[in-house]
Amino acid sequence: MIYGIGTDICDIRRIRASLARHGDRFAEKILSDAEMVTWKERGLRWPDRGVSYLATRFSAKEAFSKAIGLGLRMPMSWRNCEIAKAASGKPEIVLHGALKHWFEARELTAHITVTDETDYAASFCVVEKK
Ligand SMILES: CC(C)(COP(=O)(O)OP(=O)(O)OC[C@H]1O[C@@H](n2cnc3c(N)ncnc32)[C@H](O)[C@@H]1OP(=O)(O)O)[C@@H](O)C(=O)NCCC(=O)NCCS
Repeated sequence: MIYGIGTDICDIRRIRASLARHGDRFAEKILSDAEMVTWKERGLRWPDRGVSYLATRFSAKEAFSKAIGLGLRMPMSWRNCEIAKAASGKPEIVLHGALKHWFEARELTAHITVTDETDYAASFCVVEKK
């Protein structure tokens, strides 16, 4: 059964401005260790794609936080919610730490989809319960 749904839209220009103001510290607050590696690789090759990557992660994490009904309240946290990628390219949520325990204890499964255009990134998340 559906446990919750969540959506989010993110203005990529605001993410770019935060990066300009706070540099890597902003990305480090939002991204997991694995996401940081991808962000750095993409940003080095294509700076704009690095910003879009961070914006889609930001929106996906917010969408997930709404689907689980907590918002950005513990145990939900930016870095414990990772948006990984299946071999096919499909995004997948990988959780860490207290959030992983909280999620597994409730026997939940998450589905996430993300999209972006020049100025906006958006995500939609569905969380199912067994
Ligand atoms: C959910 C949250 C991440 C969204 O923040 P945001 O990016 O500023 O706002 P968005 O426009 O993307 O989303 C706002 C909508 O999220 C929804 N929302 C808020 N809390 C939610 C929750 N716990 N679960 C699911 N959805 C939630 C509401 O529909 C809200 O719209 P509304 O205010 O018109 O009712 C953020 O509100 C949050 O973390 N809330 C929990 C912590 C909290 O309550 N802090 C305030 C303490 S005073």
